[in-house]
Amino acid sequence: MNYSDFYTKSIERPEVFWNEQAHGIDWFKHPSVILSHNQFGYPQWFEDGELNACYLAIDKHIQDGHGDAVAIIYDSPVTQTVKKYTYREVKTEVAKLAGGLQSLGLNKGDTAIVYMPMIPQALFSMLACARLGVTHSVVFGGFAPNELAIRIDDCQPKVILTASSGIEVNRLIAYKPLVDEAIEIATHKPDRVIVFNRKLGAKIPAQHYDIDYGSLVYDAPEAECVPVLSTHPLYVLYTSGTTGKPKGIVRDTGGYVTALKFSMKYVYGMKPDEVFWAASDVGWVVGHSYITYGPLINRNTTVVYEGKPVRTPDASSFWRVIEEHKVRTMFVAPTAIRAIKQDDPEGLFIKQYDLSHFRALFVAGERCDIATINWVQQHIPIPAIDHFWQTETGWPMAAVMVGVEQLPMVPGSVGRPVCGYNIQILNEEGTEVKAGQEGYVATRLPLPPGTLMDLWNDHDRFVDGYLSQYEGYYFTGDGGYKDEHGNVFITGRVDDVINVAGHRLSTADMEENIASHEAVAECAVVGIYDELKGQVPLALVVKKKNADIENFQLEHELVQLIRERIGAVTSFKKVIPVDRLPKTRSGKILRKMIRNIYDGSDYQIPSTIEDASVVDELVAVFNDFK
Ligand code: COA
Ligand code: AMP
Repeated sequence: MNYSDFYTKSIERPEVFWNEQAHGIDWFKHPSVILSHNQFGYPQWFEDGELNACYLAIDKHIQDGHGDAVAIIYDSPVTQTVKKYTYREVKTEVAKLAGGLQSLGLNKGDTAIVYMPMIPQALFSMLACARLGVTHSVVFGGFAPNELAIRIDDCQPKVILTASSGIEVNRLIAYKPLVDEAIEIATHKPDRVIVFNRKLGAKIPAQHYDIDYGSLVYDAPEAECVPVLSTHPLYVLYTSGTTGKPKGIVRDTGGYVTALKFSMKYVYGMKPDEVFWAASDVGWVVGHSYITYGPLINRNTTVVYEGKPVRTPDASSFWRVIEEHKVRTMFVAPTAIRAIKQDDPEGLFIKQYDLSHFRALFVAGERCDIATINWVQQHIPIPAIDHFWQTETGWPMAAVMVGVEQLPMVPGSVGRPVCGYNIQILNEEGTEVKAGQEGYVATRLPLPPGTLMDLWNDHDRFVDGYLSQYEGYYFTGDGGYKDEHGNVFITGRVDDVINVAGHRLSTADMEENIASHEAVAECAVVGIYDELKGQVPLALVVKKKNADIENFQLEHELVQLIRERIGAVTSFKKVIPVDRLPKTRSGKILRKMIRNIYDGSDYQIPSTIEDASVVDELVAVFNDFK
């Protein structure tokens, strides 16, 4: 097949194109309406179709005679466990958990939060919710109670499913006290907290709302799949925006499963029964799309990996997993490759493993430097493919679609637009710019199936954040350009979102918390270059005139504050006290300029700057600091 024709058809005849793809899905009621508009006039897919995502991920395969195929491989170097679950076993786990949820009064239309480490029970929980039409919201286990509380208040879950603990490289993290603290902080109180006891020694302080996961499942009957409309929210996934409040991305059901099945085949080139491994976490969109739903819907085996690329126990882990489980295609954040490269620069570990079956390595989530891609190519003779997408889109926007045509990869590029995404580069006025010219990355509406439907409880923010900048387009928040062949290049976020080790974080959130410290008059947080994590946050802090605190003490307190309020995952470690912040005359902090000065990149002093002499002050302070 030819990429160009396939792509063009998807853009010129989207309804025909996606109707054909929808025929690959076992609907309970096939949609008669393919593309329509919701009450806000926003495009939606397959409006009257009825289906169930859990049915498509599990039951269908058993009915088709594949019940004994392996659905999930749980590989946990941190607990030295490898456990495989067939589709039939997954069904029993999920249907009984769903039965347990039903016995607690959960029904279609309710919401549930999942706050779990990388264990199979996290997937069972998501799938059990989907089975009942309960909208799940998975919260990354690295977020602190305060962040969990914000999400509890926004999506008002009837229950929270959690585990006794997660394991980081050097410590056990007891989850239950974090959940209790979050419930204490939140205004909304869930009815129940279902705790999966991992029996690793973590304390599980008892509360009146607790239920033991094991007992709930043991006693429960298996629940059947509940049909839902295509537009029924399968999940809400919170992601960082430009304010302290995270945005609840609402995902539909019918468009999403259609898009995931499409992408498994055409973007990742996966055939059923093969093993797919996305080395991420269920708390991120990658975990939703390519650890849980995508591979299972495509009848692949998915790997649930509880460990790190390095230090669990060393930089050989990824290659061991690929060899042992016959992984065909893998997805990973560039940071993880950089970490492996740092510990094993010559790729000596790679040589110890048989990777002959390994077909492609996809990277995304942050900018991937060419040296990292080249390092992979040098040591493993397979395509290493940089591709681009976001929590909002749920599946890739730009890639080399290896299941369609193996086009050459252009260094530094994230490939061509994926079918359905009419990606354009716009200038400030919203005009499409010429090839080679940098601008704002936007996609003409309608977005393809499976992309965000709205923001949970906040339609105005959805319009403001994504649709109002350029009429008729969805705005990604990224800058970039296209070359004359249509290859897309992403140059970075143009807003205050930063990407730390592939984790998307809001500088506004950090600023709000830092500003709450009694010694802080004002502050600015920017993402500075980091060789391993891509970016890490740096805070410039102006102390209050009467603040009686040493700089080192303030730094220590602020680092603790961010760890406690947002989470260690922010990797927040650097604080620089300054006399004043660079601002425009209208009071806007010049964050991009701060970042560029710190990184030693080119920067422009805008004509609107309040006082240009602040730039020399910053240069001097940064030189001292480094
Ligand atoms: N629960 C609790 N704490 C967590 C956590 C979790 N689920 N995940 C991370 N943390 C903590 C870590 O323990 C660490 O704490 P510390 O500062 O006390 O050491 C901190 O958050 C930063 O974690 P991390 O970003 O994982 O950094 P690291 O230095 O431990 O490891 C890498 C570096 C490169 C190995 C790691 O960042 C990595 O694996 N990156 C790839 C990330 C990825 O796959 N992203 C995919 C998103 S699509
Ligand atoms: P997230 O929503 O966490 O997946 O983060 C999405 C953001 O990560 C995008 O808006 C980009 O800024 C960035 N991103 C994702 N993939 C890439 C990539 N391949 N190259 C550069 N930036 C990327």
